[in-house]
Amino acid sequence: MEVITRPNAGQAVSLVARLLLSRVFANPEIVLGMATGRTMEHVYSHLVASEVSFKRCSSFNLDEYVGLEPSDPRLYRQYMHDRFFSKIDIDPANTHLPDGCAADLQKAAADYEALIDSSGGIDVQLLGIGIAGHIGFNEPLSSIMSRTRAKALTPATRLQNAEMFGGDPDNVPTRALTMGVGTILEAKELILLATGSAKADIVAKAVEGPITSMVSASAIQLHPNCKVIVDEDAASALQGRDYYDFVFANEPEWADYRD
Ligand code: GLP
Repeated sequence: MEVITRPNAGQAVSLVARLLLSRVFANPEIVLGMATGRTMEHVYSHLVASEVSFKRCSSFNLDEYVGLEPSDPRLYRQYMHDRFFSKIDIDPANTHLPDGCAADLQKAAADYEALIDSSGGIDVQLLGIGIAGHIGFNEPLSSIMSRTRAKALTPATRLQNAEMFGGDPDNVPTRALTMGVGTILEAKELILLATGSAKADIVAKAVEGPITSMVSASAIQLHPNCKVIVDEDAASALQGRDYYDFVFANEPEWADYRD
């Protein structure tokens, strides 16, 4: 794992966007793993402003709410359409999210896993982090080997995500269909982005704490190709900053990204 701290949120977001664009540029048929949430909105703004073509890419999102109508504007499908898919040249048929509106969620989950497999697997998976340490919607006690499935959302997550639901956590769905931690770990590369002081403690737990199903993001420590990009605020509880900064300042792979 590498942990890169940038001076502010804008620079952290811009670094993530540059990394993703470099991956698309190197492999125009790349399979992208997408994430949602407020942090990611800024990444999508950067990506849509680029000249890079997504025409031959395909994408798989981490998660989707369960229990909303297919036309509900608060679906992550709509979030992705509005902020990203409708603004780039990707073929909509190649953009995938778990079907949280399906009558049979178990089948929808199994179909999603099969689709990821048949695409050859996810090349690079973008991740945010929830306040309680989730990646996707893998709430505390999610098995590190878990696969795509329906998961009950914690009160903390429903509170965190209430903004899109009129500010009332009671309006936030109680369940979501999410890739499992095991599904996420099979992506060839992980890039986790976190900004702001509210994420400082959980970032430190995920990066430096024990690997535990109580903090599903801690499972990224098992991944052989994982980058964590944070701003100063989100980095403020990390113990190993000096070494992480030394790596960023000295390792050749980061030479193009230091400004
Ligand atoms: C939602 C998503 C997560 C994401 C989290 C972060 O809960 N399901 O995948 O990591 O939001 O949200 P934000 O960036 O708004 O803090």
